[in-house]
Amino acid sequence: MLRTRFCELFGIEHPIVQGGMQWVGKAELVAAVANAGALGMITALTQPTPEALEKEIARCREMTDKPFGVNLTILPTVKPPPLVEYREVIVGSGIKIVETAGFTPVDHLPHLKAAGIKVLHKCTTIKHALHAQSLGADAISIDGFECAGHPGEEDIPGLILIPIAADQISIPIIASGGFADGRGLVAALALGADGINMGTRFMATVESPIHENVKQHLVDATELETDLIFRQLGNTTRVHRNVVSSEVVSILNGGGEFADVRELVVGTRGRRVYEVGDTDLGIWSAGLAQGLIHDIPAVGELVNRIVTDAEKIISGRLAGFVC
Ligand SMILES: Cc1cc2nc3c(=O)[nH]c(=O)nc-3n(C[C@H](O)[C@H](O)[C@H](O)COP(=O)(O)O)c2cc1C
Repeated sequence: MLRTRFCELFGIEHPIVQGGMQWVGKAELVAAVANAGALGMITALTQPTPEALEKEIARCREMTDKPFGVNLTILPTVKPPPLVEYREVIVGSGIKIVETAGFTPVDHLPHLKAAGIKVLHKCTTIKHALHAQSLGADAISIDGFECAGHPGEEDIPGLILIPIAADQISIPIIASGGFADGRGLVAALALGADGINMGTRFMATVESPIHENVKQHLVDATELETDLIFRQLGNTTRVHRNVVSSEVVSILNGGGEFADVRELVVGTRGRRVYEVGDTDLGIWSAGLAQGLIHDIPAVGELVNRIVTDAEKIISGRLAGFVC
């Protein structure tokens, strides 16, 4: 059994988090993660309205009686969502764990804390992690350059970012970006983290609510097949490389502006990828960890495998080095 202070603080069995994932972080996956003893997050903004989020939380509760959280992503979007209303639903539903991500959680943290909610803030820089800690966040999820979604603009991989975070931050730290197996969990713990966060790896599981073609595509893909888009716009996003991402990179590299790629990157096209299984229909997030994915296990099997492998590595291979 591997237990860290993160497990104690958040009331979970294993130090593994499934971070928010647009169009993927739905009740089926989150409940499976919770039932496996890890911490899943329903992605608030995947739900079209705050009312729909309330129903999704209730649906998740029907599938698990273990703790789970909700991700509230604070990022610039073409159509800004009513974040305050989503937050009110989270509080009103009695959720006790929230993953905030993106911009500073300053507007939301006091309301979440007042409701007795534990906040895991996800960010990509030490500066932002320290800021969130000073605001009263309970734990930090630090996303290295390897990650899917938003790696930030500083391009610091986990091997550097995690130990620096561990040196400077006193609250529990979750290492995020590029984790997919027991070796990664051991490495994160060795670097000073209290657990790992995974996105890409959880996409390729039985309970992940996306088309089988996309899951198989992740199994077949290597670490070489991602693109960083929106670098020129200061909103870098790591996505799975396909015809659309290549076109976006080429237009922006050629001096194009957001308006020139808007139709290509629209979220509804990304959603269709997961619905119909055509991986070239739009932009969809995936991280370098896709190079470590070789199968599509049930979530429970995956979590158990990661923890068991980590324990074996620590008590076997690593212990064997100490003489
Ligand atoms: C398909 C997908 C969608 C994501 N959407 C979000 C999101 O809406 N909000 C968020 O905070 N993080 C989002 N992320 C990032 C994950 O929560 C997590 O931080 C990241 O995937 C970790 O890196 P990894 O993919 O290498 O495990 C997304 C990741 C993936 C793979």
